[in-house]
Amino acid sequence: MPISRRKFLVRGSQCVLMFGMLPGLWACDGHTRKEEIENAGYKALIATIGRERTDILWYASFAPSSHNAQPWMVTIKSPDKWIISSVEERWLPEVDPENREMLLSIGAFLENMVTAAKAYGFGVKIRRNAVSAFDPELLRLELTSGERQEYPLQRLLERRTLRTGFKSEAIDPQDFSAITGDEKGFSYYQPLSPEAVWLDEATIEANRQQVERDNVQQELSRWIRWSNADAKKYRNGLTPEGMDITGLAGWYVKNFYGPSDVMGKDFRRATVERVKQQISESGGWIVITSESGSPASIIETGRRFERMFLKAKDRSIGVHPMSQVLEEVPWSEEARKKLVLQKPPQFLLRVGYLRDYPLPVSLRMSLGEITEVKVR
Ligand SMILES: Cc1cc2nc3c(=O)[nH]c(=O)nc-3n(C[C@H](O)[C@H](O)[C@H](O)COP(=O)(O)O)c2cc1C
Repeated sequence: MPISRRKFLVRGSQCVLMFGMLPGLWACDGHTRKEEIENAGYKALIATIGRERTDILWYASFAPSSHNAQPWMVTIKSPDKWIISSVEERWLPEVDPENREMLLSIGAFLENMVTAAKAYGFGVKIRRNAVSAFDPELLRLELTSGERQEYPLQRLLERRTLRTGFKSEAIDPQDFSAITGDEKGFSYYQPLSPEAVWLDEATIEANRQQVERDNVQQELSRWIRWSNADAKKYRNGLTPEGMDITGLAGWYVKNFYGPSDVMGKDFRRATVERVKQQISESGGWIVITSESGSPASIIETGRRFERMFLKAKDRSIGVHPMSQVLEEVPWSEEARKKLVLQKPPQFLLRVGYLRDYPLPVSLRMSLGEITEVKVR
């Protein structure tokens, strides 16, 4: 139930007083990655496939995904034979009717998995199964013995989506080259370039249009974990911290907001205002294209995205996927031409240098919820 402005101010000042006296409570409020290792399913999986293979799955689970829906499921047929599927309940039919973003998220998950597997000394054979983005079974993996490849796995835990605190200076070409590894399919548009200006404006307008779509807001409301209790229960979706609603506003929404508020005018308006604020601080845009629209090509794009994302922190570069231009007509139809791209764009990433790179805040489901053991 919405509360009056007066009540809000009273409760708000109580909160400031309380947190002023007990600043440590902010920390208790959040959810740390350390506790994820104690999560349900981790120990049980070690008993079945051993610690190294369990760790590979655990590292993979920190991949980014649209709405943090974590659409992946790994079926363990034997310690070395795994199937990656997507779970229909974690698709986003309103913003992602073609399952394009789902496949990109699966690609990021696969990249984390392969990176961790190589660091533990495994090779990974990948067979692509999916013909359509709606096939439940997407990939078959086989772990083989391989060369141990040095990789700072901490990167997989520290990577996070950043939405605020970007400096407005352009990305240095050397940094762009370092984080993309000079792989193909990456374009950079610096601030005030015609393409960046178009992306800035189109993103605001696409958001303005999207928040008016009730079905989209309803879908979003199912993925927002307003209270700490819900965050702990579901361990997926978006928390206020995950949406960058922090401080007093964060405390307020955690305590007084529920699913129906997402349908209200205030929330819709505040969303567009937040996007405008985000766009106002930007070091430009990185756009990632795929070779084609096939499921295999889109999964591969998700892998390239994650490879780049994992390297960005070392260069103090924040990465913010902003997908609404690709989700809303007419911008989705215009993007390729306006950005002068030869291939289809799959990721629009607002990027920028950061003063500091804060700790991740997004939730992850337990290994028990994203794996099923079917060893015969
Ligand atoms: C395909 C894809 C699309 C995304 N689109 C958006 C977006 O439009 N806006 C946004 O704020 N974050 C977007 N994200 C970031 C996710 O919200 C984020 O990865 C998720 O909440 C988990 O948080 P983390 O990246 O900090 O681990 C997207 C991520 C992926 C993989």
